[in-house]
Amino acid sequence: MSEADPDFFSDPVVIQDPRAYFDHMRAKGPVAWEPYQHSLMVTGWDEATEVLNRRDGTFSAAVNVLGPVQGLPFPVEGPDIGAALDAHRHEMAWSDHLACFDGEFHAVHRQLMTDLLTYKRIKANETYLYALADRLLDALLPRGGCNASVEYAHAAATYAISDLMGIPVEDRAGLVELLGVPPSQIDGEAVHRVGSDPLIFLKERFDGYLRDRVAEPRADLMSELLASHYRDGTSPSFARVSLLARFLFGAGQDTTSRLIAMCIRELGDDKALQARLRAEPALIPDFIEEMLRHDAPVKVVYRLATRDTAVGGVPVPAGTVLTVGLSAANNDPRHFADPARFDITRPNKRDHMGFSKGVHGCLGAPLARMEARVALERLLARTRDVRVSDAHHGPAGARRYSYEPTYTFRNLTDLMIEFDPVG
Ligand code: HEM
Repeated sequence: MSEADPDFFSDPVVIQDPRAYFDHMRAKGPVAWEPYQHSLMVTGWDEATEVLNRRDGTFSAAVNVLGPVQGLPFPVEGPDIGAALDAHRHEMAWSDHLACFDGEFHAVHRQLMTDLLTYKRIKANETYLYALADRLLDALLPRGGCNASVEYAHAAATYAISDLMGIPVEDRAGLVELLGVPPSQIDGEAVHRVGSDPLIFLKERFDGYLRDRVAEPRADLMSELLASHYRDGTSPSFARVSLLARFLFGAGQDTTSRLIAMCIRELGDDKALQARLRAEPALIPDFIEEMLRHDAPVKVVYRLATRDTAVGGVPVPAGTVLTVGLSAANNDPRHFADPARFDITRPNKRDHMGFSKGVHGCLGAPLARMEARVALERLLARTRDVRVSDAHHGPAGARRYSYEPTYTFRNLTDLMIEFDPVG
């Protein structure tokens, strides 16, 4: 990486190699200013933990997903911007979604989701996931190869969250198709742009599903969400339920798809590891954890300092947007020895922040882990060999991969693989 800092929020060099960017920033210190959006980049594991675990209202999630790029809709004045934020937060992108809520408002809505995503419900989904992976593989394996990121990872994750939520079976293939193009924050088609409310294009569809369930409740997650109650016994409005349902669908779909695709890329490039996991599928969960540490689907989350404070000894004025590098923390050599090495036996791999941590930590982590495990288990069990396509990605050692043009997320735009089916 050159002397000049590349722009994290727009430079394709960073999209291609976030590790090099984070290493470059960490060399300036675990908490350092980036010059383009004047955001404070947190690249140290201890410092990211300090930000994410703080629960006294100093750090707001109001800027989550888009980060500093959107700007604040009010002037930053004085050592405490809490009141100004409260007055203007509804003007901010994503402000209607759980990931951007704060305090008690966040806690009561998160509780509604926690009540729904029970261990029992997630475990009950496992049988469906096995059948789903086999159904997808039945269609793909005879072809000898496929675009694994779209045709396997994306399809598996979209069908899985659709089933969990109770989306009608006849609509699921349409959703897989609709959402098949990777999202974008830097360029790309409008419908897939991660903008002020990217889930708006699902509103009509989800409102329809929910209206059907108001008329006739079913035994599914959307019906339960409609029947749910806040701690004080009142019910969320129809509009609120629709927002929560859309957010859950979005949160559960893209991210898991990204994880599965990155896992397949890793296995395609590491034949010894692939053979080991095929022989010992019980190691697949360790492999998934190390993947989440090494190159996570969500690179960064964002927090806004509501009052003057400090992180890792660095002064943080009120109004500062912190870009908390989850992938950077996951590769901090002060916490993970030789972090660039992919090592499924790494003793502390589960310390990773792939699912973030603290009050906004991912609610779907157990489901995501199960989805990825089942998808990989079945792919390995039904093949003798999975290869990255040399014709498409170049030869081993000089692969060319392209990543979705988003500064927040990390995923392959495509992953062409070839395989030898068993039997
Ligand atoms: C590999 C897959 C996944 C990854 C890497 C991932 C990662 C994340 C991250 C980084 C956050 C943000 C936390 C923050 O701002 O600090 C998050 C939040 C969230 N995730 Fe996931 N996620 C995944 C899958 C899922 C699934 C399958 C679901 C649902 C079934 C889900 C539901 C949620 C929800 C509801 C939140 C918001 C929590 C809150 O703001 O309180 N995620 N996830």
